[in-house]
Amino acid sequence: MDYQTLLNIIEKDLETFEHEGKVADYIPELAFVPGDKFGMHLHCINQQDYSIGDSEEKFSIQSISKVFSLALAKMHKTKIWHRVDVEPSGNPFNSLTQLEMEAGIPRNPFINSGALVISDILLSCLKNPKEELLEFVRHLAQDDDIYYDEEVAISEKKHGYRNVALVNYMKALGNINNDVDDILDFYFYQCSIAMSCSQLAKAFMMFANSGKNIGTQERILKPKSIKRINAIMQTCGFYDEAGEFSFRVGLPGKSGVGGGIVAIHPHHYTVAVWSPKLNPNGNSEKGMRALEELTSLTGLSIF
Ligand code: DON
Repeated sequence: MDYQTLLNIIEKDLETFEHEGKVADYIPELAFVPGDKFGMHLHCINQQDYSIGDSEEKFSIQSISKVFSLALAKMHKTKIWHRVDVEPSGNPFNSLTQLEMEAGIPRNPFINSGALVISDILLSCLKNPKEELLEFVRHLAQDDDIYYDEEVAISEKKHGYRNVALVNYMKALGNINNDVDDILDFYFYQCSIAMSCSQLAKAFMMFANSGKNIGTQERILKPKSIKRINAIMQTCGFYDEAGEFSFRVGLPGKSGVGGGIVAIHPHHYTVAVWSPKLNPNGNSEKGMRALEELTSLTGLSIF
């Protein structure tokens, strides 16, 4: 498959792509990112790399980090599934209403409430949670030039009222063990991780390679855990738009309000795309279109 030619076609086709998307501004620091940025990087199972546009520029990965924290919690063999469910939410990522009706058990680990419970679990099992999470991501990408963007973390800390409400509500319902401020601090830092499309595509290769690091062939997670995490990406990676993403793209993936999306085609490739303007569901509008075009042009998806 000549992936570079396909990416070049996508880049050209999307030059004139008109849409109503808007850069996220509920985290004020994110609003400074130029809306016209666009990058895409495809990392093949044979370790060949293909890219277009701003694929080496770092951006705030936001909710994409929820896949890393779940993987780290699994790596430490923590018990998760009695505290977080694995069902699509069909609701916005920061919704409070479902939690009340479901006794403080989040629908899945990729909505904010679910990721806050995973943060709580990690705080209970790691000595230095922030350092260990960052080290884990760097190890997956085989790249140390990945960091927390303090300005983004502090900006969200000042304005993250819904997350404050979510974690306090779950504490009241008995699904949170640690101090809520410690959990929020860890959660905001994990969301602020800055990475490029190229680094994300490489870090996600473990999920396309049955749990092994592609470079070293070191086993990080069991195939059973990878099957489960990929299934949750497929059904819950895009919140109330998970069905739409499956329908249009046909790959497991995860988005973030920084405008990034990562998708995986198990045993074939990983692909990361970045375009900061979001649709009303908080997913990158041009990013979704680019991935839809990729699986249409290749004629290959997991279905
Ligand atoms: O907690 C928040 O609202 C953000 N730090 C992350 C949300 C997010 O990325 C949802 N993704 N589409």
